[in-house]
Amino acid sequence: MEEKKWWKESVVYQIYPRSFMDSNGDGIGDLNGITNKLDYLKDLGVDVIWISPVYESPNDDNGYDISDYKAIMKEFGTMEDFDRLLSEAHKRNLKIVMDLVFNHTSDEHPWFVESRKSLDNPYRDYYIWKNPKEGKEPNNWGSWFSGSAWEYSEETDMYYLHIFSKKQPDLNWENDKVREELYRIIDWWCKKGVDGFRMDVINFISKVQSFPDGQKEKGQLYGDKIPYIANGPRVHEFLQEMNEKVLSKYDLITVGETTHVTPEDAKQYAGFDTQELNMVFQFEHMTLDFGELGKWSDKKIPFVPLKKILSKWQYELEGCGWNSLYWENHDQPRIVSRLGDDSLKYRDLSSKMLGTCLLMMKGTPYIYQGQELGMTNMEFKSMEDFRDLEILNAYNEFVDNKLAEPEEMIRYFNLKGRDNARTPMQWDDSENAGFTKGTPWIKVNPNYTYINANSQINDSNSVYSYYKELIRLRKEIEALVYGTYALLEENHESLYIYTRTLGSTSLLIICNFTETEKSYTIPKEYEEAKVIINNYRDRANDNMLRPYEAIVYHKK
Ligand code: GLC
Ligand code: CA
Repeated sequence: MEEKKWWKESVVYQIYPRSFMDSNGDGIGDLNGITNKLDYLKDLGVDVIWISPVYESPNDDNGYDISDYKAIMKEFGTMEDFDRLLSEAHKRNLKIVMDLVFNHTSDEHPWFVESRKSLDNPYRDYYIWKNPKEGKEPNNWGSWFSGSAWEYSEETDMYYLHIFSKKQPDLNWENDKVREELYRIIDWWCKKGVDGFRMDVINFISKVQSFPDGQKEKGQLYGDKIPYIANGPRVHEFLQEMNEKVLSKYDLITVGETTHVTPEDAKQYAGFDTQELNMVFQFEHMTLDFGELGKWSDKKIPFVPLKKILSKWQYELEGCGWNSLYWENHDQPRIVSRLGDDSLKYRDLSSKMLGTCLLMMKGTPYIYQGQELGMTNMEFKSMEDFRDLEILNAYNEFVDNKLAEPEEMIRYFNLKGRDNARTPMQWDDSENAGFTKGTPWIKVNPNYTYINANSQINDSNSVYSYYKELIRLRKEIEALVYGTYALLEENHESLYIYTRTLGSTSLLIICNFTETEKSYTIPKEYEEAKVIINNYRDRANDNMLRPYEAIVYHKK
């Protein structure tokens, strides 16, 4: 058996602090709100809490634009509040993971304020500055949040690179001083006692230094920057250095956010013997419903390709690297709306089925706030209700350039937009879902009256209780952590069937992804096996899967 590690045996819960719990009535979630809810998380059974950025920030991108890495955002509280959260978490044996955003800072970070002043400023080379090309941007790259990836700066008549918003200038990792500053920041938080880091877009930190134009497809506004920024020439050198200089000195959980990676790349970032990170988030399964306008599409995730991709990751990392398992995070729509059925009839069943499918796989599971309640996408009626800059900018870019109609864009935002994940956590059926006594910064999903934590905690049949049981099973059955994965019936159009095996123990997991009954006869060797969890109350029929049924057999 491969080496045992606590982070392999853990279940992580992600908190988006702005939307989790508001303790002082200003409509914005905060650190004291999180501290007040630690017992809820303990009861759920998770081990680690990853908190999206809480550092000082002008909030152009809700904290993913940091202006001081060693200070707490005023809306979220104070450093004392943070210290109290950390110690209260530790008292309960809960670990805290910080979100490190190191590809870029805020343009209001003192380093950038200095950097833009003059060519000879000591901070000039902390960022990526280029001369205009024929009076225009240095190359044809587009930013993630619409527009060019370059912003003109009058002070020195040069452009700076920002692959996200223009308020998120990219740091220049080629500069040794930058890297040293960043490692010192990590060390500072480790000394405080935090237990790990999620590293934002960490595979974008090393850029191809010639900054060439990207290939531009017909009908596209910008060239493709990915080949020049993703998994760049020095990225592994940088991460190994970070590991050697700081990460390796502590016992941490580290996970890199890496879009555009293959299992080959992941084996390097998170191989058991590569000394970089513990694991990465891959995005292949999250881009299966992309269309011509990228994520803005009404395409559905195709089922057989979904199974093949998830299985590819399971097989390829077996024995040499570790997967992170997720359906949701603060950038993704709600999974029950995306891949299940959020109608009154099937929301409950399909949420539980999706939870089963994910949490029984091999890897460290990440549960995003509200997923354990089966929270759904929200219908945003007009542009005024959206808050996310990605949405606001995309609307202008696509509509202005006549690439899509306004109503079409709103429809896409409702299906795929990030604000779906950012509506306030639904605690109870009181006003504003018990999230705030004030006016929430973003609308509450009106379905809080019947989807909320309070009504689920003591209901043994709720989505919450079901997740709790899934988590408990992972603690009880070692094969659910260390057992190898195998996909059965690869091309079945409706059922996702796989096994987990460790020594003589094996588990058979069957999930029906559709609302119709499907016949399936379980393999002979499981006939005597015990059903350890099932999302229908009565015993399953061994030859038939009901709508959205999920069932797990355990054989010792
Ligand atoms: C990551 C974050 C996302 C953020 C972006 C820029 O993808 O998850 O929320 O907008 O990086 O920091
Ligand atoms: Ca608050």
